[in-house]
Amino acid sequence: MFSTRMEKPADSFYRQLPKVELHAHLNGSLSVATMEKLISRKPHLNIQHSMTAIHKGQRRTLDECFQVFKVIHQLIDTEEDILMVAKDVIGEFAADGVKYLELRSTPREETHTGLTKRKYVETVIEAIRQCKQEDLDIEVRFLVAVDRRNGPQVAMETVKLAEDFMVSSDDVVVGLDLSGDPTVGHGKDLLPALLKAKNCGLKLALHMSEVPSQKEESELLLTLPPDRIGHGTFLHPEVGGSQSLVDKVRERNVPLELCLTSNVKGQSVPSYDKHHFLYWYKLGHPCVLCTDDKGVFSTELSQEYQLAATTFGLSREAVWTLSQQAIGCSFAPDHLKEKLRQRWVSLQAQASGR
Ligand code: IMP
Ligand code: ZN
Repeated sequence: MFSTRMEKPADSFYRQLPKVELHAHLNGSLSVATMEKLISRKPHLNIQHSMTAIHKGQRRTLDECFQVFKVIHQLIDTEEDILMVAKDVIGEFAADGVKYLELRSTPREETHTGLTKRKYVETVIEAIRQCKQEDLDIEVRFLVAVDRRNGPQVAMETVKLAEDFMVSSDDVVVGLDLSGDPTVGHGKDLLPALLKAKNCGLKLALHMSEVPSQKEESELLLTLPPDRIGHGTFLHPEVGGSQSLVDKVRERNVPLELCLTSNVKGQSVPSYDKHHFLYWYKLGHPCVLCTDDKGVFSTELSQEYQLAATTFGLSREAVWTLSQQAIGCSFAPDHLKEKLRQRWVSLQAQASGR
């Protein structure tokens, strides 16, 4: 008995708007269709789709969200699974009008299937390569993720793996993500690994201040500084952060990856209109709308744009500017950024009948 309930798709303006997705966890981004393929491959696990997605009006504690990932990971434990889910996810973002995607995922090893972390990364890269060969209208890059729960040694090993692939993947691997349950571990223990990553040329996209208790950790991580911040929900003083944190983020001009539905359904933000998007947007700080986990939170990037526009009263012009500005916040090489900017200009002209 699978739940096939989908949220209402966004209006065509938001679906057709060219978009940049910079914060998408691979295994949190599986559609109902992909999940059903996985469930039918592994019926013995007795997993139902209702266990892997949070629908409209439903909410979960952050802890419950992390339990969901454990269920999903059981379904994805072979190279074949990873290839399929990565290709599906890339195809779905392309179908939603995403022209540039930075996918992130935590390399896992599964002894019972012979999956190694290196094979895991190779398979995601292969999926990206195949999508390019199939001429999907989307450029994809990959961020190797460090799960903070696994501690400093694994973090260092993951950085070494990411570094190897940065050199050998034809510029597909461009950076490192720090994610995982924010209530576990402390960023100070991971600082040496993050510094090593930065020094070898990997860009850093770090989940920061996702929960209220991370002020000290955020101060520390900002010394790196990161190239982008994931969520940053509790950075500003109105929610218990501090002016000094805000000042540092602004001085260093570190863009924020903001995921409205994820934060509302995960209950770190009480409602859409209270989302910290407004605080940073009003400051003129670079904000990039993202999905985080489009499968788990039953959303799409077009829906996130529509939600932001309707909640905060953004004009269509402002929505175009928001999506265009995301290009500059990406880790794409300069020539690709330029190509994307030109694409936006011609698509906007086309959309307005010029
Ligand atoms: P994967 O890395 O592709 O397996 O994607 C799922 C993983 O992403 C989870 O196990 C977490 O480590 C991480 N993740 C997904 N969403 C969040 C979030 O909102 N905060 C922190 N970590 C997250
Ligand atoms: Zn995230």
